[in-house]
Amino acid sequence: MNYKRLLELILVNLDEGIIVTDSMANITFYKEPATNIGGIEAKMAIGMNILEVFPDLTPETSTFYSVIKSKRPLIEHIQHYTNYEGKKVSTVTSTIPIIENNELVGCFEIFKDLTQVMDLSEKVVRLQEQLYKKNHNEKSNENSSEASYTFENIIGKSVGLLELKKKARMIANSSSPVLIYGETGTGKELFIQAIHNASSRRSKPFIAQNCAALPFNLLESILFGTSSGSFTGAKDNPGLFELADGGTLFLDEINSLELDLQAKLLRVLQDGVVRRVGANKTKKVDVRIMASTNEDPVRLVQKKHLREDLYYRLNVIYLEIPPLRERKEDIKSLVDYFIDKYNKALGKNISGISHEIEEVLQAYYWPGNIRELEHVIESAMNFAFGHKIFLEDISYNFRKPLTQRAYVHMGEEAKAFDLDLNQEVEGYELQLIKKAIRAAEGNCTKAAKLLKIPKQTLHNKLKKYDIKLVKDIK
Ligand SMILES: Nc1ncnc2c1ncn2[C@@H]1O[C@H](COP(=O)(O)OP(=O)(O)OP(=O)(O)O)[C@@H](O)[C@H]1O
Ligand SMILES: [Mg+2]
Repeated sequence: MNYKRLLELILVNLDEGIIVTDSMANITFYKEPATNIGGIEAKMAIGMNILEVFPDLTPETSTFYSVIKSKRPLIEHIQHYTNYEGKKVSTVTSTIPIIENNELVGCFEIFKDLTQVMDLSEKVVRLQEQLYKKNHNEKSNENSSEASYTFENIIGKSVGLLELKKKARMIANSSSPVLIYGETGTGKELFIQAIHNASSRRSKPFIAQNCAALPFNLLESILFGTSSGSFTGAKDNPGLFELADGGTLFLDEINSLELDLQAKLLRVLQDGVVRRVGANKTKKVDVRIMASTNEDPVRLVQKKHLREDLYYRLNVIYLEIPPLRERKEDIKSLVDYFIDKYNKALGKNISGISHEIEEVLQAYYWPGNIRELEHVIESAMNFAFGHKIFLEDISYNFRKPLTQRAYVHMGEEAKAFDLDLNQEVEGYELQLIKKAIRAAEGNCTKAAKLLKIPKQTLHNKLKKYDIKLVKDIK
């Protein structure tokens, strides 16, 4: 099969729609998505200008015009417009400039019907609502008060942890936003729930949403809700802000929130009102926002993964949970706590760990923090049959590196150099990109060749590092 035919077959079978234009936004290729939302046949669309096919778009609102002007891709943009048949539609589009020899020769757009996304977002919000109601009903039932954590559930006697608990108790009743930072498994969610439960908002909803788990367009309608006004298929639906009214909304991994959504979140924090996606009206909400990151927020701001303005707004109350390797005094009480927990769960009667294990646990680097410690204890308790846990009960994978001195001390070294592999690699990548662009005298095609990567990959990386113009590179 020849290459052109193969490409045609792939395109025709894609779910997404594809439009290609020349540099004046005149259509040269047109393929409807599986749901036919464009409302026009390909043979008719070809040769027409994009604004003729979508009559209510203007040069200011059209993604094609914007990308042709800026020469920069516009990824996952939500558009609401009238299609050729006069029907209101909403799509999520990625629009990419076609650049040859440093000159824009055209533009292509991949677009998807958003109706399915809207359905999904509705389902997520409904599930959150049901979950809240379930927890709420269970809480009033005295038998099951374990649904949420309180400060009593936070185990540890190290000075760092005790001070943090004290600070968290002090700010529990305030409505100011909270930003919490800690490595994975340090207990961020535990703290957030404890704060909510110690506040006057405890009888009101506590809604947690992970920002990394969902694509941003879906997250937007989940957080802010949707309005039937300008969406095909979308109903009037509240988002999590409205659902959490009077209570707390916990935004986990806030740095994964797309920058546009971060701006929207900032507006809610500043004005105390939300606007559903597609709606004109705003609604007042009283929600305490708590957000978490597992990377240093200052670094996130530097890397432009967290908007500076949002950072300052969230940073009103800042809590930092130290990693377990910096509070090894907590290991003993945590081990006792987990032994107690798994004695109950596994029907065992274990009273402690051998001295040998104590040493091993103290020497380890604990990259997964308390979560990892819990897993180690849970696993060992499954194998232990006496009254104590011995080194043999600890699973092989874990024990082997622990007995190797180099690994045991790796934690200290990594800390001394403040090493973060991802950041080191990114720093090196950025240097190479800059070097190649300089060597290619600003010609991206040449630079991509020097780097032996596709040009689009280079464009994506330029975007990631926020290099807007080649002349930005010194
Ligand atoms: N001080 C503590 N006392 C008792 N249990 C703890 C403590 N800290 C953490 N845990 C337990 O460790 C596990 C991980 O905690 P949590 O989910 O709050 O961490 P996290 O910081 O949100 O992690 P991630 O960044 O991976 O989401 C949970 O099971 C939690 O109950
Ligand atoms: Mg968490």
